[in-house]
Amino acid sequence: MVLLDQVIVVTGGAGLIGKEIVRRISAAGAISIIADMDPDRSQATMESLVQENPNARIEALKLDITSKESLQNLISTLHQRFGRIDALVNNAYPRNKAYGRPFFEVEYADLCENLSLHLGGYFLASQQFAGYFKTQGRGNILNVSSIYGVVAPKFEVYKGTSMGMPVEYALIKSGLLQLTKYLAKSFKGLNIRVNAISPGGILDKQPEPFLSQYKDLCLNKGMLDPSDLAGTFVFLLSDASRYINGQNLIVDDGFTL
Ligand SMILES: NC(=O)c1ccc[n+]([C@@H]2O[C@H](COP(=O)([O-])OP(=O)(O)OC[C@H]3O[C@@H](n4cnc5c(N)ncnc54)[C@H](O)[C@@H]3O)[C@@H](O)[C@H]2O)c1
Repeated sequence: MVLLDQVIVVTGGAGLIGKEIVRRISAAGAISIIADMDPDRSQATMESLVQENPNARIEALKLDITSKESLQNLISTLHQRFGRIDALVNNAYPRNKAYGRPFFEVEYADLCENLSLHLGGYFLASQQFAGYFKTQGRGNILNVSSIYGVVAPKFEVYKGTSMGMPVEYALIKSGLLQLTKYLAKSFKGLNIRVNAISPGGILDKQPEPFLSQYKDLCLNKGMLDPSDLAGTFVFLLSDASRYINGQNLIVDDGFTL
């Protein structure tokens, strides 16, 4: 119960990784807020997690991280309901329809839109929550980056598949690591800490040649399950990591070594 009664907002909380974060922080005592663009998926996620653990305290609220109004509405709803917000996990994964095209097919407008939605959205959510945290006198922001914010793409793992590593993703996730340091340092003296977690690839029905090529670059398991990340989220949200600030924890079974 290391997160007992902490009000923790998980953006994209209805997604693959978000659901697992909510599962584990709720088990650690948190009041978890699934803050997601997709209300039906949020509701279904909440219901399945509460069915699994009837003691879990989970709420589903609609949020668009690219809208200041939506962020302000969420913050004010939570303040009215709980009188505090302990942490924000920036985990949403917005992308437009053209996201992930091969490099030479990426249109400039799509690149800009994807950067705005994802990196811009994480900036906006951090800015709005940090404003609240400043008044509150404390806060914690955790940004979900990626191994591809840390190292150059290992294109060889996609050989023989239609998969790739989008240029937008490299820009977004590396930018997010610098944003993490920028924010941590900007908040000197405010008791607001900001860290990042950089997960390796997460299993999600990827094709076989990719799975074994990826595993060859890892140390033991290869692609991870969302549950392999959960302990690191709990740690970075808990008091056990109180003086870890402006850092990035890579959880990737050694892929980036
Ligand atoms: N899946 C992986 O292999 C992997 C690896 C490393 C890092 N990550 C990162 O983890 C995070 C979560 O990824 P995922 O695979 O769980 O994604 P996902 O697509 O399964 O879930 C993302 C969620 O974000 C929500 N969302 C989209 N736009 C939004 C917006 N504007 N406002 C609020 N919510 C919005 C979606 O509705 C969805 O529920 C992302 O930042 C991603 O880059 C993923």
